[in-house]
Amino acid sequence: MEIAHSLQQIQSSYIREILAAATDKNVISLAGGLPDEKTFPIDLMRPTLEAIPDMVEVFQYGATAGYGPLLEHLTHTFKLPDSHMVIATTGSQQGLDLIARAYINPGDTVIMEAPSYLGAMQVFGLVQANMVTVPQTESGPDLQALESAFKAEAPKMFYAVPDFHNPTGVCWSLDTRKAVAKLCEQYNVAFIEDAPYRELRFSGEALPMVSDFCPQHSIVLRSFSKIASPGLRIGAVTGKVSYLEPLVKVKQGADLHSSVPMQALLHGLLKHDNFELHMSKIQALYHERYQVLNSELKKQLPESCKVKDVDGGMFVWVTLPECDTFALAKQLLANGVAVVPSPVFYPDESQATPALRLNFTNAEPNELVEAVSRLSTVLKAL
Ligand SMILES: Cc1ncc(COP(=O)(O)O)c(C=O)c1O
Repeated sequence: MEIAHSLQQIQSSYIREILAAATDKNVISLAGGLPDEKTFPIDLMRPTLEAIPDMVEVFQYGATAGYGPLLEHLTHTFKLPDSHMVIATTGSQQGLDLIARAYINPGDTVIMEAPSYLGAMQVFGLVQANMVTVPQTESGPDLQALESAFKAEAPKMFYAVPDFHNPTGVCWSLDTRKAVAKLCEQYNVAFIEDAPYRELRFSGEALPMVSDFCPQHSIVLRSFSKIASPGLRIGAVTGKVSYLEPLVKVKQGADLHSSVPMQALLHGLLKHDNFELHMSKIQALYHERYQVLNSELKKQLPESCKVKDVDGGMFVWVTLPECDTFALAKQLLANGVAVVPSPVFYPDESQATPALRLNFTNAEPNELVEAVSRLSTVLKAL
């Protein structure tokens, strides 16, 4: 059977392939975006896990928008006004898919930063969106390029990760947040704010969300994968009711609703008295690992390689002198370290500047030190 045209153009995920190769026990993987499984708050889930056998109602079909007590909790936590609603989704990735399927016709323009999150490129590719990119600076998207793209392309939406971007770790400045919100209102573009790393800040002050400045022109994607557990597969989408109702319709067709026992488990976890303490523990753990990776990179890498400092998230972006980054990643793998080369994060690979994405959350400090030593040996020989 011939596969759909929309799927024919989608590349299989390079990261999944490299992750498969990186399971070799001699390889230190800085390739994935995995939280450390030792941080999973199983103890904080235990009271709900023990109570669930008596909660028969969660084993019945549930409401498409989600499990009532969880939705109430999230409405309160996110301080949603009456005009807004929340939907529980199967990971925030499903939220993105629902947005794309509810709003994008083939050929509709979506603006993204370059580089961009690979999973978003796959989702927008599947609905045959016209993906137009604007370059990213140290403080967020290039605002002139963004306004020109808004003028020239009349896009439906601008998708972005303003807090600790995947892959670059960039966190948008306050001025950029305000300016982007203003542009979205001015040009009537919906802002899709993907915020899976927002709570993983380990230094500096939290900034307001971009959507705080344009609440009527934005949809926010929330993930619990990095702060609780990705295997639960529960995320959430928030936005004004008129933006989100079409998503409920698409979700009915997609999976009726997300797993209710898993939503109940997440609800129990989020309202546990020690959840805040758990959050500060993972922030401290990841801060320590980031400091190890960052200082080793600065100590050991050749001067032609530049490392960007980050205040949170899971990734460090290392820019390199001109080279074939795919060949380099292959060579690094043969030398026992897995990384992701920059071109996979661009809808048009030819626009990529040479760089590597390194993850610091899923390796122990001694492994990070060893990984940088392997990395610099190969880079120095280039
Ligand atoms: C930017 C971004 N958005 C969304 C996701 C998907 O998250 P979830 O596990 O909530 O589906 C990821 C996962 O790595 C991500 O990096």
